[in-house]
Amino acid sequence: MSNLLTSSIGQKLLMSISGLFLILFLFVHLILNSFLLLDGVFGFKETGQMFNAGVHFMGTNPLIKVIEPTLALGFIVHIIYSLILTFQNWKARGPQSYASGNKTSGVEWASENMLVLGIAIFAFLAVHILNFYMKMKGFIAWEGGEVEFPFFGTMAKGENAYALVNGTFKSLPIVILYVVGSVALAFHLAHGFWSAFQTIGWNNVIWMPRLKWISNIVAIILGGGFTVIALAQYLFF
Ligand code: HEM
Repeated sequence: MSNLLTSSIGQKLLMSISGLFLILFLFVHLILNSFLLLDGVFGFKETGQMFNAGVHFMGTNPLIKVIEPTLALGFIVHIIYSLILTFQNWKARGPQSYASGNKTSGVEWASENMLVLGIAIFAFLAVHILNFYMKMKGFIAWEGGEVEFPFFGTMAKGENAYALVNGTFKSLPIVILYVVGSVALAFHLAHGFWSAFQTIGWNNVIWMPRLKWISNIVAIILGGGFTVIALAQYLFF
């Protein structure tokens, strides 16, 4: 166990596994956030009933209450080990290098800028948590009020999360921040996804090209999905 935490390959393994776990979270997060679009498309933008029901489900489900601290731990592990590995690599090879991936002259831009992209995503995330999470969890006051929405065949009451998100996306600078954050996320994932599988050991000649394709698809779905939601909320809803 101590080897896992201290050896360079153990640390890369932890970074890769925590990264893949975070990607899984992002897919669930994107599915929930896509209800913001469905509410608009199906004419529920006054009540935001689909998104509010989804948020209510996530907020009241006991499993999610366990997953939430695990998610926080995943972020911490991923960030700490990416910093440790990057600085070890700088010390060993000078500041031109980065801990993940073999460097060749033709290596793509994203792989050389993983730390910068990670820092941009972290900055975005800090604002994002202040925008939504801190308000929904009652750390920052907001004027959303409660609404009723259909929930598994009955009516439930909960916070008007739709109004919070919709109101937040009325600001152009905020929308630009979300677009920049999502694009940085897309580039980070375009390299990070296949690189994580390579670290785990899934790096044979057949699967590496396939994983690189899948990485691009994951990056486009997640980065593009969050971008479209933020822009659609600003422009149409
Ligand atoms: C259109 C874009 C996005 C929207 C509308 C959105 C919406 C939200 C909302 C409403 C919450 C609070 C949920 C609650 O407390 O019940 C939340 C939390 C969170 N979001 Fe986002 N999000 C977006 C993009 C992102 C991106 C790109 C990331 C990661 C890079 C991210 C990571 C998180 C995290 C870590 C939390 C806290 C954990 C949680 O509450 O599930 N979000 N988001």
